[in-house]
Amino acid sequence: MAATIIDGKAFAAKVRAQVAEHVQRLKDEHGLVPGLAVVLVGEDPASQVYVRSKGKQTVEVGMNSYEHKLDVATTEAALLSLIQQLNADPKVHGILVQLPLPPHMNSDLVINAIDPAKDVDGFHISNVGLLGTGQKSMVPCTPLGSLMMLRDHLGSLSGLNAVIVGRSNIVGKPMAQLLLGDSCTVTIAHSRTKDLAEVCRRADILVAAVGRPEMIQGDWVKPGATVIDVGINRIARDGKNTLVGDVDFASASAVAGAITPVPGGVGPMTIACLLANTLTATCRAHGLAEPQGLTA
Ligand code: GUN
Repeated sequence: MAATIIDGKAFAAKVRAQVAEHVQRLKDEHGLVPGLAVVLVGEDPASQVYVRSKGKQTVEVGMNSYEHKLDVATTEAALLSLIQQLNADPKVHGILVQLPLPPHMNSDLVINAIDPAKDVDGFHISNVGLLGTGQKSMVPCTPLGSLMMLRDHLGSLSGLNAVIVGRSNIVGKPMAQLLLGDSCTVTIAHSRTKDLAEVCRRADILVAAVGRPEMIQGDWVKPGATVIDVGINRIARDGKNTLVGDVDFASASAVAGAITPVPGGVGPMTIACLLANTLTATCRAHGLAEPQGLTA
């Protein structure tokens, strides 16, 4: 039987509507407008597209968007100085520095200069540690969006075998922490894992975040499994520039119980969760109740 397609676009619209409703309440009851600052260094075309989209959606849910576009030759010291300024600005509740940064900058140093309470990407070492020890933290957006879709589709995840293919700090590792938090039995596999297909076939939940176009084939998927495809890869197909995931959708969707498509799956959830995190950061900063269902 063909898999259920998990519609990330529709889910993201629902999350944004919830965020917008809560933002309106903050305005009405507390005169408070959440603010998100996005910093882009250089002119990487993909990053420019993401930043534009983030700014647009931030305004659409009623938040203030502050965009800082810096020249590619900006010094690391100047970027750190801007971050200090944003850390101290009470109108700014969330700060996102778009990655990748130019090669003359130390990304770890820059990310760790952000006030952890404003780190809406959840990349600061304090947030990584808090998540790893099961404490309240800011949670990276792509894993948070993936978790929301899994909970929505499966209900309880307790006791399920989850296999994550990919060990990045942005997706693979935080995804593993979140699934452990929901009582899954978690395996982190990667491109060097022995018998990778065999490992994947054990998964009730298979998360593909390895960055290789269509690597995961249908016969790697356990019948009925839920497949979350985090990959966004551009390939040439039939003479056209085509967006594909890390999963071979055609073969996997014939075996899986449910699967996220690319595009229209995890992608739209990432920005929706960035907005949710900005709302959460605003509520925490002002000692107000956090939105329900929008955090881990
Ligand atoms: N570049 C690609 N994805 C991301 C993301 O989620 N956050 C940041 N800061 N940069 C990115």
